[in-house]
Amino acid sequence: MRVAVYPGTFDPITNGHLDILERAVNLFDQVIIAIAEDNYKQTLFTLEERRYLVEQACKHLPRMEVRTFDGLLIDFVQSINANVIVRGLRAVSDFEYEMQMAMMNKKLNHNVETIFLMSASKYSFLSSSIIKQVALLDGSIKGLVPVEVEEALKGKYMLKAGTREG
Ligand code: COA
Repeated sequence: MRVAVYPGTFDPITNGHLDILERAVNLFDQVIIAIAEDNYKQTLFTLEERRYLVEQACKHLPRMEVRTFDGLLIDFVQSINANVIVRGLRAVSDFEYEMQMAMMNKKLNHNVETIFLMSASKYSFLSSSIIKQVALLDGSIKGLVPVEVEEALKGKYMLKAGTREG
C-alpha cells in the first residue's frame, strides 16, 4: 500500500494546494494531508480552522484523510507507516529549500522518499501569504481559493473580499 503525506501549514489552503492534492490521489493508494500544528509561522487561522477549511475543500477527493501533526514531519510520516512525502514545486526559487528539506528528511529516515509535483502554471505565483494580503486589502481572490476559504477570509478581515473582480 503506497501511502503519501502532503504536509504544510495550510494557512489557508489554496487552489494551488488542491491541484497538487488532486493529482496526488491519482498516484497513491492513500494521501494524508498533514497540517503542521506548531510552526515558526504566526498563523491567521487556528489549527481547528485550518483543518475545517482543508476538510471542506477536499470533500470530493477519494482515498484521502486530514490529520494534524506536531514536531518533526518525518516522525509523523513514520508513525502512520507512510513511505512518501509529496511536495509541490512552484518555481525555481522553491528548489533550494525543498532540496534541503528532502535531504534532511532522507537523512532522518532513508525509507521515506520525497516526490515533487510541478505546480500548475496558473497557480505557480500563489502562496497563502499573498492570498491573505490581497483579501485583507479587499482584492478579489475568486478562483484562487475554495469558496469556504474566501468566506472565512471575509470573516477574519470583516471585509468584502472578492467583490471586486481582478
Ligand atoms: N500552491 C499554492 N501555494 C503553495 C503551494 C502550491 N502548490 N505549495 C506551497 N505553497 C505556499 C504555502 O501556502 C506557503 O505559503 P506561506 O509561506 O505564505 O504560508 C509557502 O508556499 C511555502 O509552502 P511550504 O514550504 O509547504 O511551507 P509550509 O509552511 O506550508 O509547510 C512544513 C512547511 C510544515 C512542511 C515544514 O515546515 C515542516 O515539515 N515542518 C515540521 C518540522 C520539521 O520536520 N522540520 C524539519 C524539516 S526537514
